Amino acid sequence: MEKAIYSRLDLNDITNPKIREFNEILSDLLTMNEVQQLDEFSQHLNTTRLQHSLNVAYYTFLICRKFNWHTKEATRAALLHDLFHYDWREKTHEGWHPALHPRVALENARKIADVTPLMADCIVKHMWPMTLKAPRYKEGWVITGMDKYCATLECIHQSSSIVRKSAAVMYLASFISFIHLG
Ligand SMILES: [Fe+2]
Ligand SMILES: [Fe+2]
Repeated sequence: MEKAIYSRLDLNDITNPKIREFNEILSDLLTMNEVQQLDEFSQHLNTTRLQHSLNVAYYTFLICRKFNWHTKEATRAALLHDLFHYDWREKTHEGWHPALHPRVALENARKIADVTPLMADCIVKHMWPMTLKAPRYKEGWVITGMDKYCATLECIHQSSSIVRKSAAVMYLASFISFIHLG
């Protein structure tokens, strides 16, 4: 991965202390097959599930770091929030996808990492309000917000040139953007 969507910073630039901290938090997870396999699935149009997860993790990291919240747990939970390995468009799993996949992701996360109660709550409720139960921790609110924010940016970024060039859409994107954070 080179960058999080609409970020100016190169995620491989470990001379940047912020990027180095971000990589240190995720380095063990990013080497795991279960995480790398997310690159084989598209999430939003042509954005892979791995890139989407990294986008959410990066913006979650920036926000939690800025407010000195539980940055490490939140960033790791964000990377793992969509840790499922099937195409949700194919009806291979029983259940309603928005409610099902957070539980599958949590189950999978527990197989590859230590998942704290905060992380578990963040992962299993990231689809709020579709999960009905709201996040318990402020870090969970950040992840659920960044999930929707990144999904929106990913779709805008790949939409038709007419849409992409629309001043109104770009204005909205920049208005809600956290680009000033990184
Ligand atoms: Fe999700
Ligand atoms: Fe997501």
